[in-house]
Amino acid sequence: MTATHDAAALGIETPRTLFIDGAFEAAASGATFETVDPSTENVLAQAARGDATDVDRAVAAAKRATRGPWRDITPAERGRMIFRLADVILAHKEEIARIETLDVGKPLKESRGDVEGVVATLRYNAGAADKLEGATIPLGRSVIDFTLLESAGVTAHIVPWNYPLGMLARSVGPALAAGCTTVIKPAEQSPLSAMLFARCCVEAGIPPGVVNVVTGFGEEAGAALVAHPDVRGITFTGSVETGRLVYAGAARGLKPAVLELGGKNPVIILPDADLDRAVVDILDGAFGNSGQVCSSSSRLILHRSIHDEFLDRLAEAASRLTVGAGLDDCDLGPVVSAEQYGRVTGYIAEGGRNGARLRHGGGRPKHLGRGYFIEPTIIDRVDPSHVVSREEIFGPVAVALSFDTMAEATALANGLGYGLVAGVYTADIGTALTLARDIEAGSVWINGWFIGGQQAPTGGIKDSGIGRERGLPGIMNYLQIKNVGIRL
Ligand code: NAI
Ligand code: MG
Repeated sequence: MTATHDAAALGIETPRTLFIDGAFEAAASGATFETVDPSTENVLAQAARGDATDVDRAVAAAKRATRGPWRDITPAERGRMIFRLADVILAHKEEIARIETLDVGKPLKESRGDVEGVVATLRYNAGAADKLEGATIPLGRSVIDFTLLESAGVTAHIVPWNYPLGMLARSVGPALAAGCTTVIKPAEQSPLSAMLFARCCVEAGIPPGVVNVVTGFGEEAGAALVAHPDVRGITFTGSVETGRLVYAGAARGLKPAVLELGGKNPVIILPDADLDRAVVDILDGAFGNSGQVCSSSSRLILHRSIHDEFLDRLAEAASRLTVGAGLDDCDLGPVVSAEQYGRVTGYIAEGGRNGARLRHGGGRPKHLGRGYFIEPTIIDRVDPSHVVSREEIFGPVAVALSFDTMAEATALANGLGYGLVAGVYTADIGTALTLARDIEAGSVWINGWFIGGQQAPTGGIKDSGIGRERGLPGIMNYLQIKNVGIRL
């Protein structure tokens, strides 16, 4: 077992600073807050507690930067800078992955994968920077009309704790490609990697003010950022509840918001499915990152004829997963915080009530006395109306329902307010595509899970959010279309 992880003892500098206008400085109030290592429950580091005053300074710096060298370089040069940033991050991969693992709890191999994903995201967007083209509009011989794609200006990026650097790059990458400037508000549970990102920006030569980081609490720094009149676009990933607050704030300022709010993602498994493949995928989909994934495969909708066999196999595979500190590189780390531990174990306790059955796991692994560890857990024989069937648990918990007809499966899949991702496992292409057509979700994955990458748009419908990230649509979030008409 890994001993206590103290950031200083590990040689990881405790930041205690914000990053504003290219400089690392304390919050104006001098306040800091603790971030905890969830595998030991010990304080890992102190971060600066930014508030509205700091947000004002950061937004002012970002606004100045929209008129500085960042505006005057060519899009190709902007792209080269983002490529350089990707290279710098890759060069610091181990240090960043370690910090992410300590701060969030995730296994080191997952953190390394996250850093590689960040690099791929930045490179995708870097390559697009000089390919963002407007259109010519046919209005007849007496007019020439065309569109200019212009940077949206200062953009706010409110980031969750499950993929601190990954979610940061998912929105900051395209914002930079579009020529925007940015103010980032990391989650209070995981503020450290954003400061490493800031250091990489300095090393890569990103001009001061283009990227700013204000660590702090959602209700303070986050809310101030949403309300700031000079912020011209907001990208938020997190809970539905906070998403509604952010959207209301955006509405007051009449600014666009992209919201990614999670899901309770249905996976329909039909009798003709390749169950071996489905078990491997769902194991990762439900328990990867300890289930703290917006697109986790958390709601299994199983045909009655394969229900027991599938769950037997899934439980058997889950029993072989190892749980432990992220630095020990087990399959599952702890969940991120005491609050999330309480929330997830509360759902598991509910799952044991009202006829539902704890099919696998459900407790703290016996060998782990401290830390926010939860075994991979499977709940079945549960009513679709049960709270564990309906609400996003955001922990290593899969809930299984059963169906007899396709109509029932579709109704179950569409029965919740969420609509982020859905999955279908079947050998019949017609069945797969019928379900892909009929399921209400932003993404449908057939015979696979976590299909996609930085090129493929993602986002939710209904309560799962507004707008799309990644791919070329993800860059459009950071551009304004200006129409220019000339009478000849
Ligand atoms: P949250 O939605 O409160 O936090 C996400 C981000 O929003 C953080 O950076 C936070 O500081 C910020 N924030 C909080 N209140 C704000 C406000 N009033 N104005 C502006 N920004 C604000 O999520 P929380 O409480 O950490 O987690 C609760 C649940 O949310 C989880 O159990 C999970 O179900 C869901 N969640 C979903 C995520 C996803 O990937 N879609 C990511 C994180 C959480
Ligand atoms: Mg919160």
